Amino acid sequence: MTVSKGSNRWEDHYSQKARKENYPARSVYKLQEIQQKLRLIRAGHHILDLGCAPGAWLKYAAELVGPSGRVVGIDLKPVTIPLPGHVQTYVADILNLDATISRAIGFDFHIVMSDMAPSTTGQKTVDSARSFELCETALHVARERLLSGGSFICKIFQSEDFKAFSDQLKPLFHNQKTFKPQSCRKGSREIYLIGYGKK
Ligand SMILES: C[S@@+](CC[C@H](N)C(=O)[O-])C[C@H]1O[C@@H](n2cnc3c(N)ncnc32)[C@H](O)[C@@H]1O
Repeated sequence: MTVSKGSNRWEDHYSQKARKENYPARSVYKLQEIQQKLRLIRAGHHILDLGCAPGAWLKYAAELVGPSGRVVGIDLKPVTIPLPGHVQTYVADILNLDATISRAIGFDFHIVMSDMAPSTTGQKTVDSARSFELCETALHVARERLLSGGSFICKIFQSEDFKAFSDQLKPLFHNQKTFKPQSCRKGSREIYLIGYGKK
């Protein structure tokens, strides 16, 4: 990948590392940092990955859970990288999930994680509202499909909606953390809200 003018050395480091380690996106290092901090993903776990394309989180999660686990991904776009047999992906809109796909995805996940991001318009209020809608939908999925004791990892953009979203997690999880990985792009407003120990 050519590094565009204006990219800084810090960005290059994670993009180059991802290429070298054969991950399709630098975003893998955000999940890796979350995992190193909280160790939420374990061998044999069932994981639901919302907004999974191009597949870096899927690939990393599949390595962590191993063949006795299960990783299911959903995205508007298809995932084209090779993945092991315990990973299934679906092309779908999480905001409008078809009943057949909804059934195929199943229930009883140990982790529901969302790295979803809407396509942006450049208008801050519109973009924040779209992002918030994705977060609330991801939380709804987590509420329905997480096992008790399970965890929810969700990307959210820091805005006035952040506290409202964090408040929505409180009654659902015993513990909650906000985490800003070092591998997030400089200047990015994204942050990860993590609920663990589902009640
Ligand atoms: C930052 S990327 C995710 C990167 C991924 N975690 C990885 O490591 O490869 C955000 C993804 O969210 C997806 N997305 C946005 N809105 C969505 C929706 N309504 N339903 C499903 N996926 C959505 C986008 O298509 C995009 O692929």
